[in-house]
Amino acid sequence: MTDTPSQQYSGPRRVFSGMQPTNGLHLGNYLGALQKFVALQDAFESCIYCVVDLHAITAGPDPKELAAKSREVAAAYIAAGVDPTRSIIFIQSAVREHSELAWVFNCVARMGWLERMTQFKDKAGKHAERSSVGLFDYPVLQAADILLYKATHVPVGEDQKQHLELSRDIAQKFNNDYEAPAFFPLPEPLIQGPGARIMSLRDGTKKMSKSDPSDMTRINLTDDADTIMNKIKKATTDPHPLPEAKEGLAGRPEVENLVGIYAAVSDRGVDDVLKEFGGKGFGAFKPALAEVLAAKLAPIAADMRRLNADPAALDAILADGADRARAIAQPIMAEVRDVVGFWRA
Ligand code: TYM
Repeated sequence: MTDTPSQQYSGPRRVFSGMQPTNGLHLGNYLGALQKFVALQDAFESCIYCVVDLHAITAGPDPKELAAKSREVAAAYIAAGVDPTRSIIFIQSAVREHSELAWVFNCVARMGWLERMTQFKDKAGKHAERSSVGLFDYPVLQAADILLYKATHVPVGEDQKQHLELSRDIAQKFNNDYEAPAFFPLPEPLIQGPGARIMSLRDGTKKMSKSDPSDMTRINLTDDADTIMNKIKKATTDPHPLPEAKEGLAGRPEVENLVGIYAAVSDRGVDDVLKEFGGKGFGAFKPALAEVLAAKLAPIAADMRRLNADPAALDAILADGADRARAIAQPIMAEVRDVVGFWRA
C-alpha cells in the first residue's frame, strides 16, 4: 500500500458516516457508531450521516423492503439524537455521485488491496467465486462515500478499521496518480471508547451482529425492558465476581464485554464501573446493567415508533438531506471530473 507521507489538506473538518439498512439496528451499532454521531454534532460544524442502501444490495435484492428499512435507519438516527437541521441525514442512492466516484476509485484501488479485506473473506466464506462483484468492491464504494464530501473524520466501530485504512490508501493514491497533492484528505477513523467493539452476549469472542441467527446474542434498539432483562440475565458469564480493576478482565471476554457495555451506555470509564461493582457477583451487576440499558433505549425506541408512523414527514427530512448532500457532493465531483480529465462542453 502507499506509504507516502500525508500531504497537508487544508479544507474544512467534516464528519461522515453511514449504516446499512439491514434488519434493524443493535446495541453494537448504537455504541460503536450512532452514539458518536450524536456527540460529534457539538464538536464539528458539518456532520453528514448516510443510510447506505447501495451497500445493502451487495448482499442480495430486497426490493419490497429496502426503502422501508432505509427509512427505519434514518428514524433511528433521529431518535438517537442526530438533529436533521444541524446534520445532514440522507439515503445514499439519492445522491448518484456516490456511484460515479466509486467507479473512478475502482480504477485507483488495486485488486491486491481488496483481496486483503477480512470483511469480504468473512462474508463470502468459502464461496468467494459466487459472491457478487459488489460485495468484493464494497469498501471502494465506502471510500467514495467519505471522499465525495472530502470528509476528514469518520466515526465507526472497530470492525471498520481496515476499510478506513483502505479509504486513506485510495485518497493518497488518487492524489499521487493525478498529481493533485492534498486534493482529498486522508480521512481519520474515530474508533476509540469502550463501545467500539461490542461482542455477542453468548460468545465474547464474536462481535454482536445482525446476521447472528440467535436473537439472544444481541440487544436490538427496539427491545423492551423485559426483553433486555431476559437477554442480559441469560448472557454468558463465569462464576467469579467482577474484578476490582481493568487488568482483572484479561481472559474473561464475556465479562469484559458486559462491563464495557455498562461503561459506554452510562458514559463512564471501565475503571469507574469496576470501582462500583468490583468484588460483587453477576446477581447484582446484571440487573443494574439491564436497567441502565433499558433507560437508555426506551426513549429511542419510542421516538423511532413515532417517526416510523409518519413516513411522509420522514421523507421530507430525507429529501431535504439529499438536497443538502448534493450541494456539497456535486461541486466536488465536478472537480474530480476535471482532475481525471473527463470531457466537458
Ligand atoms: P454496518 O451497517 O455494518 O455498521 C454500522 C456501524 O456499526 C458499527 N458496528 C459495531 N460497533 C461496535 N460493535 C459491534 N458489534 C458493531 N457492529 C457494527 C460498525 O463499525 C459501523 O460503524 N461499512 C459500514 C457502512 C458504511 C460506512 C460508509 C461507514 C458504508 N459507507 C462510510 C462509514 C463511512 C458498516 O459497517 O455498516
